[in-house]
Amino acid sequence: MLQIKNLHASVEDKEILKGINLEIKAGEVHAIMGPNGAGKSTLSSIIAGNENYEVSQGEIFLDGEEISEFAPEERAHKGVFLSFQYPVEIPGVSVTNFIKTAINESRKANGKEEMPANEMLKLIREKAELLEMDRKFLSRSLNEGFSGGEKKRNEIFQMAMLEPKIAILDETDSGLDIDALRIVANGVNKLKNENNAVLVITHYQRLLDYIVPDFVHVLMDGKIVKSGTAALALELEEKGYDWIKNELN
Ligand SMILES: Nc1ncnc2c1ncn2[C@@H]1O[C@H](COP(=O)(O)OP(=O)(O)OP(=O)(O)O)[C@@H](O)[C@H]1O
Ligand SMILES: [Mg+2]
Repeated sequence: MLQIKNLHASVEDKEILKGINLEIKAGEVHAIMGPNGAGKSTLSSIIAGNENYEVSQGEIFLDGEEISEFAPEERAHKGVFLSFQYPVEIPGVSVTNFIKTAINESRKANGKEEMPANEMLKLIREKAELLEMDRKFLSRSLNEGFSGGEKKRNEIFQMAMLEPKIAILDETDSGLDIDALRIVANGVNKLKNENNAVLVITHYQRLLDYIVPDFVHVLMDGKIVKSGTAALALELEEKGYDWIKNELN
């Protein structure tokens, strides 16, 4: 589904990603962990097509198609979804209108008709319920005045509506209270199927109790230095990152 080959990227002449290789197959959940500043958010931004980074080498494939040159919108239409570490506020655009527009733009790009209004309404209700979202959020301006946890939950709502092929969740767990963490994680689990994949970036094992990864990767200083199963996350929680550094030396 998603294949990253020898990805090198820099910002303002500083190399941040130093040769990332990653393959995520349909039906899989991968987790990336790693110290602050390792390049996790950079990697997710680059997959989504953020143009502030210069990709100097490497390729990104989605379902076998090279997408490195595609604009962020095109990637979204092809099924790449990124939940940001820091979601943006869009005053004057309601949660409902934002998602309606996003869905219809995506349908248009894929040669489909607009979704009929009643179908859209039904879908919105269904997904809001899945994530136990308060209805009043749906008419509020996107993220404006939302608490940290509300923003995160709203992003998962957008993901639920858009049904992406690959969902990248960058620290979706940070700032969520215990109940919200469970609700959001269960939402992700319910959306998971054999035809999509999830990449979660997290600092804590806790989220991975709910969203159980098939593979865990450690990103350090722009490289994936270790990969393993869910057990690796437990080991990291216990030992921190230094033992990996020692192992590498
Ligand atoms: N636009 C930018 N300008 C300058 N430096 C940048 C920019 N974007 C990222 N960096 C640098 O790249 C490095 C990687 O940042 P990134 O946000 O990818 O880290 P991260 O692994 O997500 O960290 P965290 O766990 O703290 O979220 C950092 O040193 C950061 O300062
Ligand atoms: Mg980050």
